Amino acid sequence: MDLKALIRDIPDFPKPGIMFRDITTLLNHAEGLRYTIDTLTQKCQAANLLPDYVVGIESRGFLFGVPLAYQLQAGFVPVRKPGKLPAAVHQIEYELEYGTDRLEIHQDALENHHRVLIVDDLMATGGTAKATADLLGKIGCEVLAFAFIIELQALGGRQKLPNVPIISLVEY
Ligand code: PRP
Ligand code: ADE
Repeated sequence: MDLKALIRDIPDFPKPGIMFRDITTLLNHAEGLRYTIDTLTQKCQAANLLPDYVVGIESRGFLFGVPLAYQLQAGFVPVRKPGKLPAAVHQIEYELEYGTDRLEIHQDALENHHRVLIVDDLMATGGTAKATADLLGKIGCEVLAFAFIIELQALGGRQKLPNVPIISLVEY
């Protein structure tokens, strides 16, 4: 299946010069959605990834992280923007392709012996994924791998991440 054909390109969003890769059109396509989750699952299984938890990054990482966790028989843990999680959090600052922000995770969501898979819809600069890995490192968890639907290769995000498998389904 041609996933790229299901991803909509929106120029100059959210600001001039950014080509926004819109996955709502992929989510909207029943076969495309099923193919995406099934392919992610197969790639994780082929790499022998058996995480205790899938960690999904707000917000679009949730959309793919939860079904992937279900398929891998893992739990799901959200990493969220500041002020969204109700209980005590660990937090870390990070950079986006367009701006900066902070990420938070519940302090009691994971323990240091847990093995996790980090999932997001898209890797641009890699700053968000790296910050998430660093946040999990503070807890002492083992990051087994990263999985993305989309990788923007020209931004070199892959080079920022620790030396573990990086799965992506569509590259630009
Ligand atoms: C987007 C995307 C990733 C991040 C990638 O999220 O979903 O999380 O940016 O950028 P990076 O690799 O340069 O760090 P965004 O912050 O737009 O939030 P959203 O998913 O809530 O829309
Ligand atoms: N997040 C960061 N850069 C992005 C892009 N070009 N398209 C969609 N989401 C993004």
